[in-house]
Amino acid sequence: MFALLSFLLIAGSFRLQDVSAQTGSNTTVAVTTVAMTTGPGRQGGGGQAEGTVSTEVLGCTPTPRDVQGPYYLPGVKHQHVVCRGGPYLLVTGTVRDTRCSPVAKATLEVWQADPTGCYKINPQRPNFCRGKVRTDARGRYSFLTVMPGQYGSGWWHARPVHVHFRVSARRRRPLVTQLYFSGNASLGERDPCKFCGSDNPSQLTTPRPPSGAEENYTVGGTRYRVREVAEWDIVLN
Ligand SMILES: [Fe+2]
Repeated sequence: MFALLSFLLIAGSFRLQDVSAQTGSNTTVAVTTVAMTTGPGRQGGGGQAEGTVSTEVLGCTPTPRDVQGPYYLPGVKHQHVVCRGGPYLLVTGTVRDTRCSPVAKATLEVWQADPTGCYKINPQRPNFCRGKVRTDARGRYSFLTVMPGQYGSGWWHARPVHVHFRVSARRRRPLVTQLYFSGNASLGERDPCKFCGSDNPSQLTTPRPPSGAEENYTVGGTRYRVREVAEWDIVLN
């Protein structure tokens, strides 16, 4: 009797894990809405039910983790202007969980190379090309920076242009990842970092011109002129 009960418990456990994996990947915004409203019945609703499945919008797939690299510094102060000098790139998006719910008060730590491809770890300038921002009640974040430069040359090919992120929120494991820019010649197989995800479509953004209110970004009473906007939504596991 005990053996039979143990078998049933173990079998049930495997079934739950299958369901978790199914709903945690390739889930769309539309599907998640169904799953949230159907509650325990999400085993069916999270997959192909209701005819609402879109295969085009991967809204709730966790953002892949990526290499942290050697230049992360903890303790950087909150600041919305990451790299100064312009021309300015506005990076903005929404942080969500795997049910597509916005994650409020998530902390985004950001660091990157300057336009010449240089990182600095200088005690006199600890916040050089680094920043920290929080999401609002709708999970929205934004910061201002400049387009990073590439680094590496000669026998060591240049890494593609990228920005490092460390995203943390209550009761969630921090996500360390990188954002890349479409069209860069060093993406994918040409990236000397063989453990990085620069060919992953969900880590790519295509900057566009600002529109309307995006043209100006005001921080602490100072108004900055925005040249480009890069949108990137992040999904925490
Ligand atoms: Fe880097």
